[in-house]
Amino acid sequence: MTINNSEDVETDAPALAPVELLVCSTCRMGEVAEPDVPRPGALLHAGLANVDLPDSITVRAVACLSNCSQGCTIAVRSEGRWTYIYGNIDPVTQLETVVEGVTKYASTTDGLVPWRERPEHFRKNCIARIPPIEVMS
Ligand code: FES
Repeated sequence: MTINNSEDVETDAPALAPVELLVCSTCRMGEVAEPDVPRPGALLHAGLANVDLPDSITVRAVACLSNCSQGCTIAVRSEGRWTYIYGNIDPVTQLETVVEGVTKYASTTDGLVPWRERPEHFRKNCIARIPPIEVMS
């Protein structure tokens, strides 16, 4: 670590990798899809596009994460980090839960947030976790 004489502090620590928050915009939460009525997944995506997330997190809509019976569903991934998929997310009442959990994820180097620090909903509704990619050449 290098410390300047100014109030700024420079470090040699690498910047944390950007994070992608994938939101299934087609989740129905058991409801029958009706024309002109937004699906719960679309509501979740719209809600997360308008919350205060760290700049390193990009929210992207995807069509189906193959967790349809336990939607709404999100996935959070990043280079060098574990990928997590979470389900049963209420698009109205759990926006802050998602913000908290994904912000904690983005603050790690490996995606592993200590168990007790994860939002309760994330602890109880983790559908899958996938290790970081390691491609052999
Ligand atoms: S429609 Fe959302 S996981 Fe399949």
